Amino acid sequence: MLRSAILTAAGSGSRLGSTLPKALVPLDGVPLLVHAARRLLASGEVTTLVVTAPAAHVDDVRAALAGLTLPDGTPPALTVVPGGASRQASVAAGLAALPPGDGTVLVHDAARALTPPDVVARVARAVAAGHVAVTPLVPVVDSLQAVADGAFAAGHLPVGGVPTLGATPRTGLGIVQTPQGFDRATLDAAHAAARAAGVDGSDEATAATDDATLVERAGHRVHAVAGDELALKITTRRDLALATLLLADQPR
Ligand code: C5P
Repeated sequence: MLRSAILTAAGSGSRLGSTLPKALVPLDGVPLLVHAARRLLASGEVTTLVVTAPAAHVDDVRAALAGLTLPDGTPPALTVVPGGASRQASVAAGLAALPPGDGTVLVHDAARALTPPDVVARVARAVAAGHVAVTPLVPVVDSLQAVADGAFAAGHLPVGGVPTLGATPRTGLGIVQTPQGFDRATLDAAHAAARAAGVDGSDEATAATDDATLVERAGHRVHAVAGDELALKITTRRDLALATLLLADQPR
């Protein structure tokens, strides 16, 4: 059993078109972060949860998570802390709030609300087996083509188009999901090294958008396990509509 997990829930809901923080946006009447937390705990691998909330919504997030239980019916140890300006800063705030003594940690995005407990368990088992960094991956199904840095700055290509820089074979490429699992000292050191190098996640050009990337930059090899299409990151209204359909398709 891994015991500790950080659930990042401090993002805004702007790309979802919501005034609520994304993690509090309801999916089938239940906030995204509650879906994510329930599935983390249902894995049987997590008993301590540190949740990063938007600074103005710490109490709302705590209230949303009241009543969570472990598989044996007891409540988890739950701490809610204000997140930072970037996902990296939020994870760092979560790490700082973790109780001492546990040598491993999972880091999970509340936005991956439907991540099945099976994925959590696979990651946890790989960490328990001695891998210092573990990520779930799903295969890339589309063809890939490179364009100049910044070509997608507006979220799409300019109307007149751009030259391409060359195709990349998708074979052997995976899309990263969460939860990711870590030897805690390795993750702490990777975050410290990033901060020391002036990388705090605020600059898109240098940001590590996930923790396994930070650990890789610190010189470690990341182990991959099978992800799941249910672990999609809910970012846009389209994602929320898809998640609603996927949830309706789940056995109750
Ligand atoms: O913004 P992005 O979609 O990459 O966010 C991934 C996860 O990180 C989400 O669960 C979001 O709530 C969280 N996050 C955070 N603090 C931030 C930005 C994002 O906890 N400053």
